[in-house]
Amino acid sequence: MASESQNWVFMVTAQTPTNIAVIKYWGKRDETLILPVNDSISLTLDPSHLCTTTTVAVSSAFHQDRMWLNAKEISLSGGRFQSCLREIRARACDVEDENKGIKITKEDWAKLHLHIASYNNFPTAAGLASSAAGFACLAYALGKLMDVKEDESQLSAIARQGSGSACRSLFGGFVKWIMGKEDNGSDSLAVQLADEKHWDDLVIVIAVVSSRQKETSSTSGMCESVETSLLLQHRAKFHAVCLDTSPPIFYMNDTSHRIISIAEKWNRSEEAPQVAYTFDAGPNAVLIARNRKAATSLIQRLLYYFPPNSDDLSSYIIGDKSIAKDAGI
Ligand code: DP6
Repeated sequence: MASESQNWVFMVTAQTPTNIAVIKYWGKRDETLILPVNDSISLTLDPSHLCTTTTVAVSSAFHQDRMWLNAKEISLSGGRFQSCLREIRARACDVEDENKGIKITKEDWAKLHLHIASYNNFPTAAGLASSAAGFACLAYALGKLMDVKEDESQLSAIARQGSGSACRSLFGGFVKWIMGKEDNGSDSLAVQLADEKHWDDLVIVIAVVSSRQKETSSTSGMCESVETSLLLQHRAKFHAVCLDTSPPIFYMNDTSHRIISIAEKWNRSEEAPQVAYTFDAGPNAVLIARNRKAATSLIQRLLYYFPPNSDDLSSYIIGDKSIAKDAGI
């Protein structure tokens, strides 16, 4: 390092939205590299919806890598964090700040320590894809800090090693995670199918049925499905595979089922479907309304069935706050 002074810190802050799969990833062929058994397709949410904000900082005054999630220190010793840090450090370039008289060379990055502070604006691990936004944001912010030259797809293959679904959050709009064929995972990465301007009248509303930590994590659930579900090889629907797993995994609950009935009944009463729905590894409903008018009507319908403070539904997450206003909340 060119500078003798200890009093310097470089930092980068990034913000990454989560993504919601419409064709779900479920099952790995390699647990360490996180290589999936199928392609998946998702929509990346608007950053105002559900997102992670991460600040990564480096200083010669730091003595170990440390991380805080929602202001609470967490361990970085896990293999997934270590894989991401190792892969990014291996691609680090020289970084120079002439004003501060500091130059960090490629070799320095291997010796310097990082402090990472990450904040989710939504409940962690409640089936709202917190690890997706988290690892995507971590890979992106570290890449910027260390001036990594890789493009978003190559960075996605690093984020993937933190959490599979994270690779799709490196892009906005509609994104495909190509499962790849290589054993080393080099071709298992995300590509953008269409950017955020495509089909931009869609409105996503998340009905938070439970913000509690889920009982069966995605990681262990999909591992059990790979071991026991016969349906999995046929690429059947995700929740059908979960029910076919032994012991069965129930992610949706009665409230989730009621929301499906409300959506189905409404769609059948209209000329064209007004809303699509999907559920990840938890009971929360991700509802995709065809436009603002449909979103307003959807919220009003849900409020009718689940009035404010009802025990079944704790909140709605709506990206565009003006829609909530139109719907009277
Ligand atoms: C149901 O990406 O959380 O949301 O790779 O083990 O971290 P790990 O799993 P994770 O699984 C997400 C599963 C899903 C479907 C999807 O997002 O495609």
